[in-house]
Amino acid sequence: MLYNHLKKSVAHKVLDYITPNSIIGIGTGTTVSYFIQELGSIKKLIKGTVSSSISSTICLNNLGIPVFDLNEVGTLSIYIDSADEVNNNLQMIKGGGEALTKEKILASVSKKFICIVDESKQVNVLGQFPLPVEIIPMASSYIISELNKLGGEAKLRKNVITDNGNLIVDVYNLNITDPLNMEQKINSFPGVVTVGIFAQRKADILLVGTKNGIKTIINN
Ligand code: 5RP
Repeated sequence: MLYNHLKKSVAHKVLDYITPNSIIGIGTGTTVSYFIQELGSIKKLIKGTVSSSISSTICLNNLGIPVFDLNEVGTLSIYIDSADEVNNNLQMIKGGGEALTKEKILASVSKKFICIVDESKQVNVLGQFPLPVEIIPMASSYIISELNKLGGEAKLRKNVITDNGNLIVDVYNLNITDPLNMEQKINSFPGVVTVGIFAQRKADILLVGTKNGIKTIINN
């Protein structure tokens, strides 16, 4: 609630990056829902979207914005999404909204990933936000014990089934000083579908809504 006006301002600013006739990858969450509202105002200028979740698809459908299947379009010129945490290297924790697997697929097939956040999401070291991991249900106790060995405290997210029919484990109190290594390690556990560390495919551009205006950080 506290940061909603900053989310709205950054969701408006990112319209500057949309090129006519493009197909845009769409993330999930409250910041993205503000962006979808903004997109509604320029919907005639774009060809359509590819969505990362059922909830974003519903918002897009309600505004009459076309939603394509990723397999129909292949690659995307741009992907726009938010994050739960982002560090100075534009690596992120994502998945607070459970859509991390499809988000990572869309980020990976996009030429440009623009991350839009309010200033509360910027951190020096990732891990204060519990790290989401999407897992295959039959592997839950094995994976929870492997994740605990990494030094965190892994807990099954209650009453959640992802759009893909899987479970989410949140890992509390991890100090993620080497995000790339941690991403690879957790992804290698059998039964892990995706870990919510976005280090291998980090953002290209970060727009941060602050009390003093929008800050733009470009990945080198
Ligand atoms: C969803 C995500 C979201 O980008 C993240 O949870 C941020 O959400 P919000 O914009 O509501 O703060 O990764 O899986």
